Amino acid sequence: MSGLPARVLVLSGPNLQLLGTREPEIYGRTTLAEIHAELSTLAASRGAIVDCRQSNHEGELLDWIGAARGAFDGLLLNAGAYTHTSYALRDAIKAVGLPCVEVHLSNPEAREPFRRRSRIAAVCIAKVAGFGGRSYALALEGLLGTLDARSPRS
Ligand code: DQA
Repeated sequence: MSGLPARVLVLSGPNLQLLGTREPEIYGRTTLAEIHAELSTLAASRGAIVDCRQSNHEGELLDWIGAARGAFDGLLLNAGAYTHTSYALRDAIKAVGLPCVEVHLSNPEAREPFRRRSRIAAVCIAKVAGFGGRSYALALEGLLGTLDARSPRS
C-alpha cells in the first residue's frame, strides 16, 4: 500500500453538462453530477482523490491539462466532440506527460464515420467506451491500478 493518495483530474468536454437529458437513447439518463458523485465515492474507497470538472471551451480544458503536472498523478478525459478534432488537446496530454485515459459514454467506433477517428487516442494509455456513465468509473479503476503499479506514492 502506498502512503499518499493518488490524485486524478477528471475532465469532461463540450455538451456533457447536458447528460441526463441529452440524447438519452445514446448517452443514458445519468447526469454528470451523478457520475462525479460516483467517482468521488469510488476514489475515497480506494484511498484516492478526484477533481471533476466540465467545460465547453477547448482553451479551458487545455489550461487545466497544462496545469496538471505536479498537482495530479493522472487524467481521465472525455473530450466530447473535441476528441475528433483537437490536435491541441493531443499536444497538451503529450506535453504534461501524465497517464491519461480516454473516456466515452457511447462507443464512437460504432457511430457516425466522423466519430471513428480520435485525435487523442495515440497519447492516452487506454480507452474506455460504450458503458454509459459507468465508463468513467471503469476508467478510474483502470487508471488507479496503473498508478499503483507504476510508482507507490510514499
Ligand atoms: C462522447 C462521444 C463523442 O463523439 C461526442 O461528441 C460526445 C460524447 C461520448 O462520451 O460518448 O460529446 O465523447
